Amino acid sequence: MTFGTQESPSAVIVLAAGAGTRMKSSLPKVMHPIGGRSMVQHAIATARELSPEHLAVVVRHQRDLVVQQVTDFDDQVRIVDQDEVPGTGRAVEVAVDALDALGGGDIQGTVIVTYGDVPLLTSATISDLTRYHREQDNAVTVLTTNLESPGGYGRIIRNEGGEVTAIVEAKDATPEQLALTEVNSGIYAFDAAVLRESLRSVTTDNAQAEKYLTDVLSIARDNGHRTSALTIEDRWEVEGANDRVQLSQLGKILNERITERHMRNGVTIVDPATTWIDTTVTIENDVTILPGTQLHGDTSIGTGATVGPDSTLTDVRIEQHATVTRVHGSDSVIGEGATVGPFTYLRPGTVLGGKGKIGAFCETKNAEIGQGTKVPHLSYLGDVEIGENSNIGAASIFVNYDGVNKHRSVIGSHVRMGSDNMYVAPVTVGDGAYSGAGTVIRKDVPAGALAINEAPQRNIEGWVEKKRSGTAAAEAARRVRERNADESIEEG
Ligand code: UD1
Ligand code: CA
Repeated sequence: MTFGTQESPSAVIVLAAGAGTRMKSSLPKVMHPIGGRSMVQHAIATARELSPEHLAVVVRHQRDLVVQQVTDFDDQVRIVDQDEVPGTGRAVEVAVDALDALGGGDIQGTVIVTYGDVPLLTSATISDLTRYHREQDNAVTVLTTNLESPGGYGRIIRNEGGEVTAIVEAKDATPEQLALTEVNSGIYAFDAAVLRESLRSVTTDNAQAEKYLTDVLSIARDNGHRTSALTIEDRWEVEGANDRVQLSQLGKILNERITERHMRNGVTIVDPATTWIDTTVTIENDVTILPGTQLHGDTSIGTGATVGPDSTLTDVRIEQHATVTRVHGSDSVIGEGATVGPFTYLRPGTVLGGKGKIGAFCETKNAEIGQGTKVPHLSYLGDVEIGENSNIGAASIFVNYDGVNKHRSVIGSHVRMGSDNMYVAPVTVGDGAYSGAGTVIRKDVPAGALAINEAPQRNIEGWVEKKRSGTAAAEAARRVRERNADESIEEG
C-alpha cells in the first residue's frame, strides 16, 4: 500500500491521450517542442520534481510515438493506455486502475492530475496545491485561475458561502455560468479513495458524451467530502497549448522566464527578446550573451564567457572566458579562453583546447584542436587531431574523403603550416614541422621538416599580348612593355 509522504504525492497522473487536432500536425500535440523539451517532457520533468511514488502517463492518440518519447525521457514512467471510452474522467480511471493493479494494493493518499500540454506549470505550484489540499483536509482540490476571456474552459461554480460546488464545462454551461471568470486549470489534487469511488459514478451524460473528470468534484461533495479550490494569479502556468499560436505565445513567456532566471543569477543578456534559451541550458555568472543568440539542449557556458551576437549552439560546452561570435555549432567543446568566429560552423566532435582559435569562415567536424592552436581563416578541418600551439595557415583543407571512405589526419604540436595547404588524409605531420604555401600534403611530414611540393614557377614572357590580344589585360601589358622600353632608352 502506498500513501505518499508528507511532501510528495503517492501518484501523479499526466493526461496525454487526446488527439490535439488543432495543431494540424502529424506529430502528436504533446510532442511539440517548447523551450527545449516537448510539452509532455515538461510535464514529466515537473512531476518528477515532486518525487511521487508513481508517475503515470495516459496515452491513446498516436500512442506508440508518445510512448517512445516518454520512456526515452524517463524509463520509470508507467504507461497507461486509455480505452475507447472518451474523456478526462475515463483517462484518470484507467490510470488509477492500473496503479491499483501493480501489486502493492490500492493506491492511497494524494493523487495529482496534470496534463501533457501545460508546459509552464511548475512543481512549486503543484507543491502548493498538495500542501493546501492536505491542510484543508480536502478530498478534491482544483487549481483555478481567473481569465478575462474564459472561452472554452470549465467554469468554477461556487455557492453563496464561496465554497466550490461544481465545475461546469463551457459546452454544458448556462449563459450565467459562462459569464463566470474563474476557470478550471485541469490540475487537481485528489484523495485516492474518494477519486476511485467518485469515478464509478461519473457518466457520459453531457454535451460531449464523455466521462468528465470535472464531475468528480460535485460527486465527492454530494457524498459528504470536502472540496475546494486553490486560485493562482499566474495564468500562464496553467495555460495549455491547443494550437500553434498558443504554442508560440507560451514559448515566448517560457523564454522570458528562463532568461529572467539567468539574469537574476548574474548573467548579462543584452536583449532577452532575441535570445532564446532552452530550459536545459546551464550558464554561470558573469557570462554575457549578445542579441540574436539561441542556446539549445545541453549547452553550458562557463563564467566570463561572451556568446553572440547571432549564434546558434546546440549541445556545446563553452568553458570559462571563451569568446564565441556569430557561430553555428553543435556537439562541440570550446576550451577556456578560446575564441571562435565570426562566421564559423562547428559540427559534431569539434574540441578546441584552451586559448585556441577557430576563426572566420572555418568549418570543423570531428576535429580535436589542441591548447593554443590556431586555425584563423577560411579552412575546413574534418577528421583531424592537431597538437598544441600549432598554426594552420589560411585556406587549408583537410581532405578527409576519398570519394568512398573518410580518413583521419594527425598534426603535431608547434607546427607552422603554410596557407592554402591540402592535407590528403590519412597523413601525419610531426612536431615542429613547417610547410610552404600551397603545399598538397600527400605524404607524412617528419618532425622538424619543411614540406614543399617541387613545382617551380615558370613565367612565359609576352604570353598575354600574344594569346589575348585586344583584351584590357593585353593593353595593360603593352603599356608596361612600352614604358619599360622608353626607360631603357633614356637610361641608355
Ligand atoms: C478540460 C476540462 C476543463 C478545463 C480544461 C483546462 C474536463 C471535462 N474538462 O477541458 O474543465 O477547463 O481541461 O485545460 O476535464 N485527455 C485524455 N483523454 C481523453 C480526453 C482528454 O487523456 O479522453 C487529455 C488530453 O490529452 C489533454 C487533457 O486531457 O492533455 C485535457 O483534454 P482536453 O480535451 O484539452 O480538455 P478540455 O476539453 O480542454
Ligand atoms: Ca485543452
